Amino acid sequence: MRIVHKLSDLRRAVAGLRGDGAAVALVPTMGALHAGHMALVEAAQASGAKVVASIFVNPKQFGPTEDLARYPRPAEADTKLLTEHGCDLLWMPGVDEMYPAGFATNVSVSGVSDGLDGAARPGHFDGVATVVAKLFNQVRPDAAYFGEKDFQQLAVIRRMVADLDFGLEIVGVPTVRESDGLALSSRNAYLSADERARAVALPLALTAAKRATEAGERGAIPAAMASLAAAGFAIDYVELVDAATLGEPVPGRPRRLLAAARIGTTRLIDNLPVAASTNV
Ligand code: PAF
Repeated sequence: MRIVHKLSDLRRAVAGLRGDGAAVALVPTMGALHAGHMALVEAAQASGAKVVASIFVNPKQFGPTEDLARYPRPAEADTKLLTEHGCDLLWMPGVDEMYPAGFATNVSVSGVSDGLDGAARPGHFDGVATVVAKLFNQVRPDAAYFGEKDFQQLAVIRRMVADLDFGLEIVGVPTVRESDGLALSSRNAYLSADERARAVALPLALTAAKRATEAGERGAIPAAMASLAAAGFAIDYVELVDAATLGEPVPGRPRRLLAAARIGTTRLIDNLPVAASTNV
């Protein structure tokens, strides 16, 4: 696998990959790679495309009190994992390459960015949209792969791609989970053994709330919040929304149940699909 750090090298390397007429798929990441990221690489490979992964810990999507400084950066292990999985090219720009002096543009996707994590983390989705727009322009892929664990991020990117005519396919890949149900996340590395044991309350609460909601029961969300609180989580939100707009659920349309909560100093997010219902 070739690794490039400069935009000029990236452009040449991508042109080389396309040389034989191959499609190019992008897997954008912030590194600290795990099996969830590898599922994205594998899905991209299964499409027959050449796969470009990017690793860039994007300062613009971290708030001033968030974990930018301590965010894990295991570059050697990440490179090894991508090489073993047969990734074709790794784009690893530095902050100055991504945001040279004078950089002044902000991509903001209103509506779908506003609630949930957008409300809990002001500016976060502007940072995500800005860097993802840049990655799309840098690599110019035919498709890009994102995990459904970051469900609101996926919705923001889909909206941006449609609104700005990026002309590439956005593929959402189902969340990969530990055997007890905890969604894989680079931030799981922050959890102590005790927090890790209690963290399973998050997928359990969502699963119970999904079943209760689909069975037409009332009170599923307060019950999920109570079980999260009992496990020691501080809750940012547990919400049932329309799966496409992330606004109010609409009768007859797929829904999504999303949650964000902190255990100790670690903020975890998760979500599950909820079947459409005629009476929401
Ligand atoms: O999901 C992530 O890892 C990041 O938000 C992304 C999409 C790579 C943008 O920095």
